[in-house]
Parts: sequence; C-alpha cells; structure tokens
Amino acid sequence: MKNRKIASFSVSAIGLGCMNLSHAYGPPVNTEQAERVLLAALDHGVTLFDTAALYGFGANETLLGKVLKPHRQKFTLASKCGMQGVDPGNGQKVRVIDGRPETLRQTCEDALRRLQTDVIDLYYLHRWDKKVPIEDSVGALSDLVRQGKIQAVGLSEVSADTLRKAHAVHPIAAVQTEYSLWTRNPEIAVLQACRELGAAFVAFSPVARGFLCGAPLDVANFDAKDIRRSMPRFTPEHHAANLALLPAYHALAREAGCSPAQLALAWLLHKAPHIIPIPGTTSVPHLLDDLAAADVQLEPGLLARLEALINQQTVAGNRYNAQANSEVDTEVFG
Ligand SMILES: NC(=O)c1ccc[n+]([C@@H]2O[C@H](COP(=O)([O-])OP(=O)(O)OC[C@H]3O[C@@H](n4cnc5c(N)ncnc54)[C@H](OP(=O)(O)O)[C@@H]3O)[C@@H](O)[C@H]2O)c1
Repeated sequence: MKNRKIASFSVSAIGLGCMNLSHAYGPPVNTEQAERVLLAALDHGVTLFDTAALYGFGANETLLGKVLKPHRQKFTLASKCGMQGVDPGNGQKVRVIDGRPETLRQTCEDALRRLQTDVIDLYYLHRWDKKVPIEDSVGALSDLVRQGKIQAVGLSEVSADTLRKAHAVHPIAAVQTEYSLWTRNPEIAVLQACRELGAAFVAFSPVARGFLCGAPLDVANFDAKDIRRSMPRFTPEHHAANLALLPAYHALAREAGCSPAQLALAWLLHKAPHIIPIPGTTSVPHLLDDLAAADVQLEPGLLARLEALINQQTVAGNRYNAQANSEVDTEVFG
C-alpha cells in the first residue's frame, strides 16, 4: 500500500472508515465479522483507522479498542469528539452536538478508556458547535495535545474561514469532509486552504455511500435505521434520476480496467497528494476491492470524461436534508 502524510504520520493512501461496523447503513454487524474486517484491513496494509464517539454511541470505539489493542503500534488511530449520544433521561440516547471545552475533555477521557489506549493520534472536532467559538473548542483540543492525550488536531465539515481561525489557535493536521465525484463542495475552498496550511484532506463517503459501487442500491428496501433514508439523493425519485448515470460510469470503470468502487477512489487519489479517502465497509471482499484502488492509474482523458459525467450539476438531490445542512459549516455551490 502506498503512503500519504497526516502531520508527522505516514498513513496508507486509503484508510478504513469504521462507522459502518456499528452504525449508519443498517444494524451493527456481529463482532466476529467486524473483527474479520478490521484484521483484514491491517493485514492488507491499512494504517489509518477512523472512528468517533458518535458511532454506535461509543460502541465503535469499544470495538476498535478490543480488536486492535494488540496491534496499536502498527497504525494511526483517528477519532472524533463534539458530537455524541446523550441520554436525555429516558434511557434512549440521542445525537447531540456539543463543542464546549469541558464536554470535549470528558469525551476524550471516555474515548481513551473505550479505545484502550494512552493516546489518540488524530482527534477531530466532529462538527463545529456554532454556539461555541471555534477558538474555544480548538483551544481545548490544544490543551489535550499538551497533556499528551492526543497527538494532532483535526476538524470535520468546516469552511475554509473556520479552518483558518482554528489553525491560528493550533496547527490543524487534517480536515475530514465528504468528498466524492458526486459531492464536490471541498473544491470551492477547503481543499486549497488545506494545501496552503499543510493539512491533509480526509475524504469521507468516498464511494458515495455505496452509489458508486457495483450493483444499484435498493433504496426502497433500506433498513428502517439506514441514515440514507433522510438524504435527498437517496429518495426514490432522485435515486431513479441518478441511476441513469451508472451505465456510462460502469463503462468508464471497464475502460480503466477497475471496479466501479475503485474508479471512485482512484479519482480521489489522482486529484491531489494531500487527499486520503476512507471508504467504509462491512465486507472483506469489498474492503479488498477498495484497497486495490491505490494501484489504479487513470489517464487524463478518462479523468475528464469521468468528471463531466458525475458532478454536482449532473446529480439529482442535495447530499443532506435541511437539518443536517444546518449542522455543517462547509461551503456550498450557489
Ligand atoms: N466526519 C463525518 O462527519 C463522517 C460522516 C460519514 C462518514 N464518515 C467516515 O467515513 C467513512 C466512510 O463513509 P461512508 O461509510 O459514509 O461512505 P462510503 O465509504 O462512501 O460508502 C459505504 C457504503 O459503500 C459500500 N461499499 C464500500 N465499498 C464497496 C465495494 N467495494 N463494493 C460494494 N459496496 C461497497 C458499503 O457497503 P458494504 O458494507 O456492503 O461493503 C457501504 O454501504 C465512515 O466509515 C466514517 O468513518 C465521517
């Protein structure tokens, strides 16, 4: 596996997004299957594992702690704070954005315990809590670096302006934001800002939450808890329009000699050397398919045709609904 850089860490060019093992696109997978995926990733050269306090409301960090503890020296561990499950008093946790310094400190303590580690290598603020100045949240993370509890600070779904304000408080090692052929918002300003500041750009949902993979998704039969149900692009109406893009997309993958998921990942790797995609999967065969994208070479002419086929203008539906949009700070196309 080729390597890329996040601050002083040399990480595999493709990392593993671990959310899907505990949360998001259906019920959590069983522990044995999750273990198979995590250990196969290690065996095949993945050295960047991405989790968060939010995922499975702590269960994903607990899973990684249990499975990866014996291998802790072999990889860069990234987690996130500032968005987590909170019990309002009825025993049912709900998702809450809270970037207050005292909350971030407590979340980090909980994460270190769940992850069974002394230090988290890269700790992101999962969302900027707009009720708290970004300088205060990043100041708290900077204190955690000084205390040796985390090594580097990251941000997720922020604008270039917020990134610069944060970077003035403490060097930002990475920005993690959705970026794929069908979600191009980072191209407006954040990719360039990261390049200027020396921050890595970690691309989440890089295979478009499964849309840019092999078989068309069966959106009508998504699990009741599948978060794609709330995303405009996956409503039956918009999905039907987007499906029309797939035959030409699959033809480009055949021409490039790779799978559809590999085409989506290889496109990201070709965009710039500071971009690191973190696909998520519950399946070892899908994982191996994704990782092989690091070796796919794409010709400039094919890249141009690919970008013309799938982009913000050719896709139907917004990536997020109004509520989720109000929680992010990212620039959007006018
Ligand atoms: N910072 C944030 O706010 C944020 C938000 C979302 C996600 N993330 C991070 O980013 C990671 C990845 O994002 P994501 O999971 O939302 O989206 P993604 O990686 O674009 O897509 C995941 C989906 O694609 C399918 N898939 C992956 N590789 C495949 C392959 N080769 N062939 C067929 N299907 C394939 C998976 O299904 P199978 O399980 O069947 O393979 C899964 O349903 C997450 O795990 C998480 O760590 C961060």
